[in-house]
Amino acid sequence: MRHMALVGLSGSGKTTLGGLLAERLGLPFVDLDQETERRAGMTVREIFERHGEEFFRGLESDTTREVLESPDLSVVATGGGVVLRRGNVEVLRKNALVVFLDRPVEHILNDVLHDDSRPLLTEAERFQEMAQERRPLYLCAADATLSNDAGVNEAMEKLLNLVSTHWEL
Ligand code: S3P
Repeated sequence: MRHMALVGLSGSGKTTLGGLLAERLGLPFVDLDQETERRAGMTVREIFERHGEEFFRGLESDTTREVLESPDLSVVATGGGVVLRRGNVEVLRKNALVVFLDRPVEHILNDVLHDDSRPLLTEAERFQEMAQERRPLYLCAADATLSNDAGVNEAMEKLLNLVSTHWEL
C-alpha cells in the first residue's frame, strides 16, 4: 500500500494534477506546502522571510515524513525542493509511487514567473539553473517520469495510465 506522490519544479502541475487524480481515485489530496503552512500558521513566503530557507526545509521534512508515513493513503503534491534532502527522497520512495512531472521550463516561466507566493521563482535565469541542478534529483527520486508538455487533459490521461500500470493499493 503506497501513497501517490508528485515531484517536480514549481509550476510543473503537481497541485493541479494531484487534485484531479485524488478526485478520480477517491483519495484525499495533500499539498505538502499547504500542510506546512497550516502547521506553521504562516505562508511559505512568510516562513522564508522570517526564518530563512533552512528553517523552511526542516519544516518541509517534518511534514513530508508525517504525511508519507501515515497509513491513510493520499495523493501528495510535494514542494519543488523536496528532493534537496536525501532523507525526504528516502521517505518518498519507501512510501509512495513517485512520479516526476517533467514540464518544459519555458512553459513554467510563462505561467508562474511573477507568482508572489513562490519566493524562489523570482528570476528566470536563476530558475533555469535550478531546473538543471534539480533534474537529476527528480529523476533519481521518481519511479516514473511524465512529460507534461501538452496541457492538463493529456497529462491527466498519462497519469491515469501510469497509475493503472504501476500502482497497487
Ligand atoms: C520551492 C517550491 C515551492 C515551495 C517553496 C520552495 C522550491 O513549492 O515549497 O517555495 O524550492 O522549489 P511549489 O513547487 O509547490 O511551488
